[in-house]
Amino acid sequence: MNAITFLGNSTMRPSRCILRAFTRISPSQYMRDTTVRSYPSRFSSCGNQSNNPISNRISKPTNAVPFCTDSRSSVTAQVVSEARNLSASTTCANDTTLDQIYTKNDVNVKPLAVKRLNGDEKDEEMINGDDKSVNGDGFEGAKNNEAEEEAWRLLRESVVTYCDSPVGTMAAKDPTDITPSNYDQVFVRDFVPSALAFLLKGEGEIVRNFLLHTLQLQSWEKTVDCYSPGQGLMPASFKVRTLPLEEDKFEEVLDPDFGEAAIGRVAPVDSGLWWIILLRAYGKITGDYSLQERIDVQTGIKMIANLCLADGFDMFPTLLVTDGSCMIDRRMGIHGHPLEIQALFYSALRSSREMLTVNDSSKNIIKTIGNRLSALSFHIRENYWVDKSKINEIYRYKTEEYSMDATNKFNIYPEQVSPWLMDWVPESPDTGFLIGNLQPAHMDFRFFTLGNLWSIISSLTTPKQNQAILNLMEEKWDDLVGHMPLKICFPALESSEWHIITGSDPKNTPWSYHNGGSWPTLLWQFTLACIKMGRPELAERAVNLAEKRLQADRWPEYYDTRHGKFIGKQSRLYQTWTMAGFLTSKHLLQNPEIASSLFWGEDFELLETCVCVLTKSGRKKCSRAAAKSQILI
Ligand code: GLC
Repeated sequence: MNAITFLGNSTMRPSRCILRAFTRISPSQYMRDTTVRSYPSRFSSCGNQSNNPISNRISKPTNAVPFCTDSRSSVTAQVVSEARNLSASTTCANDTTLDQIYTKNDVNVKPLAVKRLNGDEKDEEMINGDDKSVNGDGFEGAKNNEAEEEAWRLLRESVVTYCDSPVGTMAAKDPTDITPSNYDQVFVRDFVPSALAFLLKGEGEIVRNFLLHTLQLQSWEKTVDCYSPGQGLMPASFKVRTLPLEEDKFEEVLDPDFGEAAIGRVAPVDSGLWWIILLRAYGKITGDYSLQERIDVQTGIKMIANLCLADGFDMFPTLLVTDGSCMIDRRMGIHGHPLEIQALFYSALRSSREMLTVNDSSKNIIKTIGNRLSALSFHIRENYWVDKSKINEIYRYKTEEYSMDATNKFNIYPEQVSPWLMDWVPESPDTGFLIGNLQPAHMDFRFFTLGNLWSIISSLTTPKQNQAILNLMEEKWDDLVGHMPLKICFPALESSEWHIITGSDPKNTPWSYHNGGSWPTLLWQFTLACIKMGRPELAERAVNLAEKRLQADRWPEYYDTRHGKFIGKQSRLYQTWTMAGFLTSKHLLQNPEIASSLFWGEDFELLETCVCVLTKSGRKKCSRAAAKSQILI
């Protein structure tokens, strides 16, 4: 038995609620420390817990192992013990845990003010939820169809509460699944479409709670085999656990997974980026900007930004990550500079730039963010973009060019232009897409949907490129949509490529799961991109297709086969982001004006910065006109 199984039955009612954020460093301390990057590290040594007087005082699993032999079990034991110590007076009746933590750190910030409903009000709200918000948020006259009604019911059933407050939605809730693995957890990336569905319905409480609770988890010390990743990392997921106390009492704790338990031990690089993007969306949709102005929230944004912007060995403005650090969270040959991470990175930086309060302590980071945004968009627009003529250029590349003016900067061998690509790339100059990854001597020409869609949404690509991506998706409808929107990537890795690149992963066989499977959750992002570019009819076509099957198929996580005909081999059913993505798409199509709160337009100031930097190295003319000409490529 490990610490996790010891934690008990989650249906038991807790007597106390405890947030295990005991390693939270104060914003003021963080500010001081950022120059030297030295953080308090509770787990920095590999000492045995018996040296820790706090953990000696409390009960823990009798067979808890010493730290560093099984980090998962020991982290849990230590965390639980410390949380008890920290929050001895915290009760569920008045969940002041978060406020206590701020007070403890001597920071005067606004308390977590979440409107609570008493039992009766809550029931009434649940029963009449749809009707009430119909009047409040522009749904008037719009008749919810049966699929939408079921999706709403299931989405509400997937809500996870902590201290009687909603804090997220679990990844999947299939009543017949007796081995849910970690799908019973709240995943940060999976919660985004749920959050949007709630926000668009006028229900902000769950999103606010989610943002604040995950913010607390951000500052945990986390360790894999005695090594800690950078401060500021957001968890991939968390679970609310119920722990037994003495005398039949129970307490609730939030138990995050930063990748230390995840398959492959991958750090979820995208979690922090999604958190920032969602924070912006919360402000835009609810009009409650006070949340993003809070000192602790501002610190959270800076911690994520600093982690991403830290100096390293990079030669490019793109973020260097390991394989599987995003939605594709298993080995799929996307280590290096995968498009998905770059597009989310760009979106998160744009969000941060909007949300950071300008003052003496933030002006440097705001400047760094601006410079990085400029460099990133220039790099992606120039080097990730392919269309027929660019592929032809690569096909005729000379290699081994040693000079500052090399055309083939990344030394790409033309043999990489594989037969599928030559067949697949459309003739029309009005179509094109961003490739999946770029490294020395390596261009991953696969089409990755999420990255391309977020490039449109965030204006990482030019307006012309945005249209060209949608043109390509329309032209390649059978390949990218087929029976079910949308392919996570195209084409699938087959034969020896599958063996070598996935490590012979039985879940990622050709045209399944991450390897060319079809994921309905991508629909809301497609809808947003289509609305932004004035092409809602394209999104409607995809939504109608999904609507025909999702409910009957019990809301699968993904579909298999080349054209998305079958429910995925190991697909979970009642997958929350499938239904939330569907609901968000429907709402956006019915209320397209709200979509503008979720996307970004072209920013000429950013373009100008990069063009001007290039001018100093004598390569381009520095002016706004020159910047504008950049966007027409
Ligand atoms: C799978 C997906 C990941 C998702 C998780 C929970 O691991 O690859 O993107 O967050 O399931 O749904």
